[in-house]
Amino acid sequence: SASQRLVVVSNRLPVALVKDENGWQVKQGSGGLVTAMAPVLKNRGGVWIGWSGAPADADPADGPDADMDRLFDDFTDEAGYELCTVPLTQAEVDGYYFGFSNEIIWPLFHDLQSRCRFHPRYWRSYLDVNFKFAEAVARRSTPDDYIWIQDYHLMHQAFFLKSMGVRRNTGFFLHIPFPPPDIFMKLPWRAKLIQALTEFDLVGFQTVQDRRNFVSSLHRLMPEAKVEGRGAVVTVNMGNRSFRAGAFPISIDFAQFSKMAAQPDVLQKAAELKEALRHRQIILGVDRLDYTKGIPERIRSIQTLLRRYPDLHGKVNFIQIAVPSREEVDEYKELRTEIEQLVGRVNGEFSIPGWVPVHYHYRNLPHDELVGYYAAADVGLVTPLRDGMNLVAKEYCACNNKGDGVLVLSEFAGAAAQLQRHAYLVNPYDMEGIAKALHRALHWEPEERKIHMAKLREQIRRNNIFRWVDSFLRAGIAKSLVDFPEM
Ligand code: UDP
Ligand code: G6P
Repeated sequence: SASQRLVVVSNRLPVALVKDENGWQVKQGSGGLVTAMAPVLKNRGGVWIGWSGAPADADPADGPDADMDRLFDDFTDEAGYELCTVPLTQAEVDGYYFGFSNEIIWPLFHDLQSRCRFHPRYWRSYLDVNFKFAEAVARRSTPDDYIWIQDYHLMHQAFFLKSMGVRRNTGFFLHIPFPPPDIFMKLPWRAKLIQALTEFDLVGFQTVQDRRNFVSSLHRLMPEAKVEGRGAVVTVNMGNRSFRAGAFPISIDFAQFSKMAAQPDVLQKAAELKEALRHRQIILGVDRLDYTKGIPERIRSIQTLLRRYPDLHGKVNFIQIAVPSREEVDEYKELRTEIEQLVGRVNGEFSIPGWVPVHYHYRNLPHDELVGYYAAADVGLVTPLRDGMNLVAKEYCACNNKGDGVLVLSEFAGAAAQLQRHAYLVNPYDMEGIAKALHRALHWEPEERKIHMAKLREQIRRNNIFRWVDSFLRAGIAKSLVDFPEM
């Protein structure tokens, strides 16, 4: 019906206020969530609720001026959907976002428990901010709307909406992995967190394995939960109510990426890049600068490649694009230093006049430029230690219109579940294995490359982002499953 709207709620909006040398600016948000959800909202319209990116209580001399809010209204006019900001104080940003979300859930759910800081004040802040978001959702939505919560920052939305007596049809999608129970059980607030997830009407994961992991932890913590069905989407019966849990591998707007990569100015950029690198083969890595992405391991594998195969000297370039991310967190600062030292070390070991093997860019690229890199690259090297999906892998294939590229992909990326048959799968911790895979990939016959790339593109073209939305909403609208009385 006309009154039923899609209300998307995430920590991050598609645009954010960011402070740089020139003061506060509105910038495109980076990361897979924004890439995936922006075309969805553009296509369907609706409301997107999230944080502006700036602390609401900043000293007026320091913070964005009051006018900045108007920039979100301008965006609304242009985009065809509404943006609604939830103001957060600096203390809330520190506790809920940098703290609980990025120093506890992010590392834990990526199997990196030694990087977790389990401060109880982070947990309290997480609950407070989730409550604040739920109030905004209640205020901005009607009982007819479909409330679609995105990602690990907001796992308590359904719980708080219910506690306020607000009835909504709610769906939750987790963009990152759900860890196996042995890891999830380390979380001091595991019982409350998993119980909060059971309050949604539908809980979605990237892969069947993530959904299984969730169900295993649920069985340990809430033995009354009974799972019915065994397909991609199952029903979990809790005694007095039930909810659904399913696997919905997220994707990209394939047609849009492919089209962009065919535009003359992008092709021109790709040609200039090739020219500047004297038509050597290009291996490309693109990631937010994050410790889950395996960037130091990847650079070491390039070092191994060049040590092992001197025939490649002067014949290949590795380009790493690292997008600044969560720069206030110490782990991210340290990682940046580590990467920059490694790049220097490898270049120091192998450079000769006219050839510097590793090119490193630390910045967020505009989309047309990024697509030019994808189009120019012979090998897409995607080696996260762990990743919910990894959209870069899909974007690389979508932009490879010539069909002559090779995707080398970590077996621990969610994307591997879909792309394993035609990507070159590697263990991101195995530097020698990656070097060997790269050597083979660089020597693959054009015919072989074409067969595999065509299959990869076909799989991504078919399972695109619009299909993803449809399958999630179809599973989520099943009202009959909500409040199902048992016994
Ligand atoms: N990206 C970006 N700016 C860049 C390079 C990449 O915004 O300079 C985008 C890229 O197009 C992709 C997203 O960042 O859509 C990364 O998503 P992915 O799922 O690979 O990883 P995430 O960052 O979400 O962990
Ligand atoms: C991943 C997360 C997103 C997040 C993005 C960028 O993709 O799943 O929720 O928005 O990284 O990270 P940031 O902390 O800048 O939002």
